[in-house]
Amino acid sequence: MKKSKSILVTGGAGFIGAFLVKRLLKNYPNYQVLNLDLLTYASNLSNLKSCESFSNYKFLKGDIRDFKFLEELFSSNNFDIIIHLAAESHVDNSIKNPFPFVLTNVQGTLNLLEATRLQWGNNIEDKLFYHVSTDEVFGTLGVDGKFTEMSPYDPRSPYSASKAASDHLVRAYYHTYNLPILLSNCSNNYGPAQHFEKLIPLIIQNIVNKKSLPVYGDGKNTRDWLYVEDHVEAIDLILHNGKIGKTYLIGGDNEKRNIDVVLKLIKITDSMLGRPEGCSKKLINFVSDRPGHDYRYAIDNTKVKQEFGWKPETSFESGLVKTVAYYLNL
Ligand SMILES: NC(=O)c1ccc[n+]([C@@H]2O[C@H](COP(=O)([O-])OP(=O)(O)OC[C@H]3O[C@@H](n4cnc5c(N)ncnc54)[C@H](O)[C@@H]3O)[C@@H](O)[C@H]2O)c1
Repeated sequence: MKKSKSILVTGGAGFIGAFLVKRLLKNYPNYQVLNLDLLTYASNLSNLKSCESFSNYKFLKGDIRDFKFLEELFSSNNFDIIIHLAAESHVDNSIKNPFPFVLTNVQGTLNLLEATRLQWGNNIEDKLFYHVSTDEVFGTLGVDGKFTEMSPYDPRSPYSASKAASDHLVRAYYHTYNLPILLSNCSNNYGPAQHFEKLIPLIIQNIVNKKSLPVYGDGKNTRDWLYVEDHVEAIDLILHNGKIGKTYLIGGDNEKRNIDVVLKLIKITDSMLGRPEGCSKKLINFVSDRPGHDYRYAIDNTKVKQEFGWKPETSFESGLVKTVAYYLNL
């Protein structure tokens, strides 16, 4: 059994955070998990219902933008591990209003790093600050090539720029203050209980309600989709086996054009609803492209595969079936 540890998870009421908290509670009964989340519009506490019965789990509502609050939190808790997921996460929102993205993703991350540094000082044995980030920090790819751990940063939306800034701050704390950090950049996640603003839940919801299915541009923009529980498994492996100061790229080996994702969702959802095959295709509506829309993301995940024996376990088909079933309440 792993040694007892006190873990602070930020953003644990969000999409990925909730799956991570559930995995930690299930796999590590010796860990005390404190989930700190502001409960913004993007959170979903119902995805954490099963955690309430765990005596080693606590939820705390709080704001990482508030440094005084963090100082007080850290003065009354001795955390061994921080896993930082709290963020403003929706690119379209960042285009409409970038300010909350800088305040939460940049200032919030700095607050958390500083509160952690002040608490740990030189007592960094067995301590870890794990920052969860995105492949969007690398910008866009053309028709071929993949991002690696060596790819240069080239963020092109206010969201990805704010995540890039937070990544740089995390590494700066490692080099400047010796803070023990780990960082991972992951491709697009999907799965149950994701907010309806994101592509896959939005399309499922609109198929159900026979509403138009918006597809940006010509639909050829390509993302590498990963089932959320596969991401969380990779985080678990990196957390326990990663080398301090290192970055790991996580991806699904599952590149899909947006239009193909929509067509697949139409097939699965129509079939689960008992509707004639393909009847929702007429709802597809190509809309003006997102400004600065990155054309393609793809991840070379050789490092996590070789170092930790990880690989994406969930096929796109079965992951989508589980996801659609969740939204249809099946
Ligand atoms: N969703 C993806 O495809 C994806 C891929 C790679 C990396 N990531 C990263 O993973 C992390 C989690 O992503 P997600 O999709 O679960 O996001 P999400 O939007 O579903 O959840 C974010 C959570 O952070 C909380 N939060 C926001 N501002 C806060 C603040 N000021 N203080 C405390 N809590 C706050 C929200 O209430 C929410 O519960 C983010 O850092 C994101 O950049 C996401």
